[in-house]
Amino acid sequence: MIDTTTKWKPELYNEKHSFVYQYGESLIKLLDPKGNQRILDLGCGSGQLTSKINEFAKETIGIDKSVEMIADAKSKFPEIEFQVMDASNFLFNEKFDSIFSNATLHWVKDFRNAIKCMYENLNSNGKIVLEFGGKGNVQTIVNELRNALRLRGYENQSNLDLWYFPSIGDYCTELESAGFRVLSAEHYDRPTELADEESGIKDWISMFAESFFVGVLEKHIEEIKNEVQELIKDKCLINNKWYADYKRIRIVAVKEENVC
Ligand code: BEZ
Repeated sequence: MIDTTTKWKPELYNEKHSFVYQYGESLIKLLDPKGNQRILDLGCGSGQLTSKINEFAKETIGIDKSVEMIADAKSKFPEIEFQVMDASNFLFNEKFDSIFSNATLHWVKDFRNAIKCMYENLNSNGKIVLEFGGKGNVQTIVNELRNALRLRGYENQSNLDLWYFPSIGDYCTELESAGFRVLSAEHYDRPTELADEESGIKDWISMFAESFFVGVLEKHIEEIKNEVQELIKDKCLINNKWYADYKRIRIVAVKEENVC
């Protein structure tokens, strides 16, 4: 079986993809962490947002599935607790007042268990504040990537289903079925400026979509990345800056128990 597990590279992430946590800072305002609260950062990456939340909360714990990212987080913020854990399979002895998650849940294909875990690890009336890719996210990049693979005969790679990008209706329905009350939900366009002016789209593919190239001949990989970047120039190169066509889902919901 082909191993399509994404291998996270903390240096590349911090150097060229810091927008991931920079955008997350506005989400912390919605979280509104308080000095008496215990908060979970679900999919904490290298811990930058966990550390910001921790400035206001009583206790903050960060979890992430990537061993490399958790090692990086621990080295940067040794005063904070970080653990390697799967977003769809986690359990703590003590529950949380809020769960925060930025740019993670689109990686979690087992979304029902992720929602169940969030519910079970929250106190009554506890809050979730989530942002992740919604329906149509990065479709300009990924459609061209799939086409370029298919044209060269890589049918399996072109059909790879790496992410979960739900519609707002679908995701809110899932939350409600699990017992959450949705306070606010948005599905908005957020074109995201990429760091490198030369190779912005190619770098994005290398960081986040490298799994599409498992089993692809070396000589085709660079060729495909160049082709995709060239073909989406009209849509994604604006005033000499590259943008990824992000569409975000942003949700605030609370855990309700014993609703009649
Ligand atoms: C996102 O943040 O929307 C995203 C990141 C990597 C891959 C796919 C989507």
